[in-house]
Amino acid sequence: MSANSPAAVLVLAAGEGTRMKSKALPKVLHEVCGRSLLGHVVAAAEELTPQQLVVVIGHLKELVAEHLKSAHPAARAVVQEQQNGTGHAARVAVEALAADGVTLDGTVIVVYGDTPLLTAATLRSLAEQHHAQGNGATVLTANVPDPTGYGRILRAAAGSADEGSVFGIVEHRDATAEQRAVTEINSGVYAFEGKLLIDALARIGTDNSQGEEYLTDAVEILREAGHRVGAVVAEDYRDILGINDRVQLAEARRLLNDRLLERAMRAGVTVVDPASTWIDVQVGYEPDAVLLPGTQLHGATHLGEASRVGPNSTLTDTVVGAGATVSNTTAERAEIGPGATVGPYAYLRGGVVLGAKGKVGTFVEIKKSTIGAGAKVPHLSYMGDATIGEGANIGAASVTCNWDGVNKYPTVIGKHARVGSDTMLVAPVTIGDGAYTAAGSVIDGDVPPGALGVSRAKQRNVEGWVARRRSGTASAEAAAAALGEAAGQPEA
Ligand code: UD1
Ligand code: CA
Repeated sequence: MSANSPAAVLVLAAGEGTRMKSKALPKVLHEVCGRSLLGHVVAAAEELTPQQLVVVIGHLKELVAEHLKSAHPAARAVVQEQQNGTGHAARVAVEALAADGVTLDGTVIVVYGDTPLLTAATLRSLAEQHHAQGNGATVLTANVPDPTGYGRILRAAAGSADEGSVFGIVEHRDATAEQRAVTEINSGVYAFEGKLLIDALARIGTDNSQGEEYLTDAVEILREAGHRVGAVVAEDYRDILGINDRVQLAEARRLLNDRLLERAMRAGVTVVDPASTWIDVQVGYEPDAVLLPGTQLHGATHLGEASRVGPNSTLTDTVVGAGATVSNTTAERAEIGPGATVGPYAYLRGGVVLGAKGKVGTFVEIKKSTIGAGAKVPHLSYMGDATIGEGANIGAASVTCNWDGVNKYPTVIGKHARVGSDTMLVAPVTIGDGAYTAAGSVIDGDVPPGALGVSRAKQRNVEGWVARRRSGTASAEAAAAALGEAAGQPEA
């Protein structure tokens, strides 16, 4: 089998992850940059197009199985009922495959579900070197500044026949002081010859401080059986970080984010402050987009050419058109047209389509609405379930009264309509093309095209009220002065 398409990738993700102290969520479902820890590993594995992609699940298995089904339906979940160690987990996987008649002729890659920074390129290079060196097993290792907690790589002594090959792997808690001084660690990523792996797994014992079947023992078993075990040292140790607790979770998020931002910057995106800018793996962008500080881009958000987002904006599954500006805004599933402006201080909530050169201004909330090209909702308004025609203008503090407490109703505002400030649009209601509404109106009936809708009490002024009812106040004095001027000097 060619090194490019492994016979199988086995992802081990059944462990409880005690050090994460996570009650409701299994460790491997914790998220960094828009994907679960497990999802990152599975995504890297998928890129190798293995013939079999197996994920071993156990702790909170229903949640993990459900997650795989929705996010990675091609992966096959195999249950490890009791978490008796990484060797046991791998054995459960190969036994499940054997039960289905899968013989694993070729390379089998084993990875742990808690190494989200692992890339397909690293896996590919491991498989290639495994193949090229003709090894029975090859371990991906790394030299780390602090090896605490990791399994240490024991290399065959200099001058020995198999100098440089891997002699064994010893877990931190089982290691002597001398072994603990070794800084080359086991990443938990391995390439095995399938048949050899199956044999080795059947022979792993539990003679260690945890009484578990350690996959790492397969190395020694294969070496003793006369097979060469090689090592590939990762170029950057950070790529293989295993996440055991929430401190490492934050570290991994930071590293992955740095990697994603670097990729964006190399593609022509300006990131003013990488330290306060966060993006998910699926985020896309065009050259000359600018990200201002405090910006988070989630999901399938896409930035158009020369668009400008931030500061302090959180966009989820939002498409920003070319040249659009979005500032101090929260948007979910919005489509912002080219040249449009949003914010500062806007909230686009669930399914908003803003046309080219449209505007959603300050302290404005829009929900599930379509706003035509060049239409504007500049200040202090709420538009929900509305369709606003091109070139329309919605005056400050206007509101669609779209909910009667039970049902939601639509509002339709025509092209080039002018909704006066503080108009309450009681839905369902239609404002015709080119129609106006008078400021302060409560509009609960349709306004025909070109008409002015007015609905408000007639104003009445009670002359002299302040002088009579508020005499001696600053207001009364100001009024007297004004009236004096207007009426000329009072008689002496
Ligand atoms: C393991 C390695 C260690 C390596 C480190 C790299 C072993 C014995 N040790 O240690 O050499 O340096 O990873 O990060 O392999 N799992 C199961 N079933 C089980 C036990 C674990 O599926 O019964 C899964 C876990 O969900 C996890 C992975 O295997 O994703 C690794 O288990 P973990 O307990 O995190 O191993 P480490 O102590 O980190
Ligand atoms: Ca681990």
